[in-house]
Amino acid sequence: MYWLGLDVGTGGSRALLVDERGQVRCGYTAPHEEMRMERPLWAEQRPENWWEAAQAAIRGVLKEAGIDGGQIRGIGLSGQMHGLVMLDRDGNVIRPALIWCDQRSQPQVDYINRVVGKDNVVAFTANPVLTGFTLPKLLWVRENDPASFERLHKILLPKDYVRFKLTGEYCTDVSDASGTSMFDVVMRKWSMRMLQALKLDPGILPNVVESPELTGTVTEEAAELTGLKPGTPVVGGAGDQAASAVGNGIVKPGIVSCTLGTSGVVFAYMDRPHYDPEGRVHTFCHAVPGKWHVMGVTQGAGLSLQWFRNQLAPGKSYDELTQEAQASPCGAQGLFWLPYMMGERTPHLDPIARGGWIGVTAKHTRADLIRAILEGVAYSQRDCLELIEGLGVQVEAVRASGGGGQSAFWRQILADVFGKRVVALRTQEGSAYGAALLALAGTGPYNSVEEVCEVAIEEVSVTEPRPYESQLYQRGYEVYRALYPSLRPIYSLIHQLT
Ligand code: XUL
Repeated sequence: MYWLGLDVGTGGSRALLVDERGQVRCGYTAPHEEMRMERPLWAEQRPENWWEAAQAAIRGVLKEAGIDGGQIRGIGLSGQMHGLVMLDRDGNVIRPALIWCDQRSQPQVDYINRVVGKDNVVAFTANPVLTGFTLPKLLWVRENDPASFERLHKILLPKDYVRFKLTGEYCTDVSDASGTSMFDVVMRKWSMRMLQALKLDPGILPNVVESPELTGTVTEEAAELTGLKPGTPVVGGAGDQAASAVGNGIVKPGIVSCTLGTSGVVFAYMDRPHYDPEGRVHTFCHAVPGKWHVMGVTQGAGLSLQWFRNQLAPGKSYDELTQEAQASPCGAQGLFWLPYMMGERTPHLDPIARGGWIGVTAKHTRADLIRAILEGVAYSQRDCLELIEGLGVQVEAVRASGGGGQSAFWRQILADVFGKRVVALRTQEGSAYGAALLALAGTGPYNSVEEVCEVAIEEVSVTEPRPYESQLYQRGYEVYRALYPSLRPIYSLIHQLT
């Protein structure tokens, strides 16, 4: 018997099969169309394309594993968060979805803060409203594309559109709903106060469940298209970050994860919902029923290294770059990297911040440039970690994942910069894996998400912080921390120029 996790990402949809003990059996990714960026700051995708990719991924994984849909006991979904899917009365997509990285809605964010009150937004939803979140996107459509808004029957998040196509149900889960700015994260239900203040009809919202709960079963029509068996149960699933945290076993106090993908995310579990009044970290519902999480986001983590490779070392692999960086000493000879390649979320919440090296001398080599990038990203993730610890979250160890987490050298830098033990796990499959484990928790022989993680997740390596290097990095971190405030006025000047 198998359980299927399906992650509706940005670049593609990935289907992953696990067995009863949560061990990965087979995976298959189907790419999405490029996102459409009609103007700077705009980013749209076609939900119909996610459904096409989901069908291809499911068919692909069944074929590769050599099994038929009847052998799948349950399905879990995860996906890119915050996107706005708009459906009409017949379930047709009204317009392309504005996705998570679309930043066009600053006027709507300002409007929400004015009408609802900035403090009220935090009191009602546990977070400030950000341009990336769903609500300001919806208000943008109401204001700028009224013909589409008029036809609106339901809104859904990206993975939930795929659920709708699989099961015919309008439903989401608490972790994904948390990123809409319409959800009362503390009470785990839609915030009527937000909706009323903004004159939005609550009827447009889907039903909400906890992540391992059942939301429906595969319809005859979806079965025909995917090869799944009609009647296969589909559980709530989670937003990609909460799902990935389940895949990293972040389901109890003490362990946090640091996921270095394009972005870098420090993610911690919470028994109670604590939040930063300034909103520098997101406080959302966890995929563990009745629990919460907090996360800090570095916008340009792996992206920094990717940019370096594309622009300055074309043809090199990431392994070759991290290998080269080892020729540079701890601290990269006084060179610093600011990873603000796409502005920054945590801790600055500043869309116009910019990246770059500070402190280049004629003596520096390319190895120093790379090492400074790895260290700068680690400092930025420490910013996230410090804020999270400031909320009272105890951190004993950090589980590293994502592409960056696979590098032993980068893990050592993280351990030294954090002054904490950094652990690597056997399975590094991210959100699709977490979604599969949630399916196992909801429809398999287990009583809870925690129980599934206990069985499925295994640590394979531990990196201890080294005292001498940690001390050097402590001094480096103080310098790093002083850089952003001094540069902030310059960022404004550059912004005015461009
Ligand atoms: C979370 C976030 C990303 C997106 C895209 O706040 O913006 O994780 O879900 O992956």
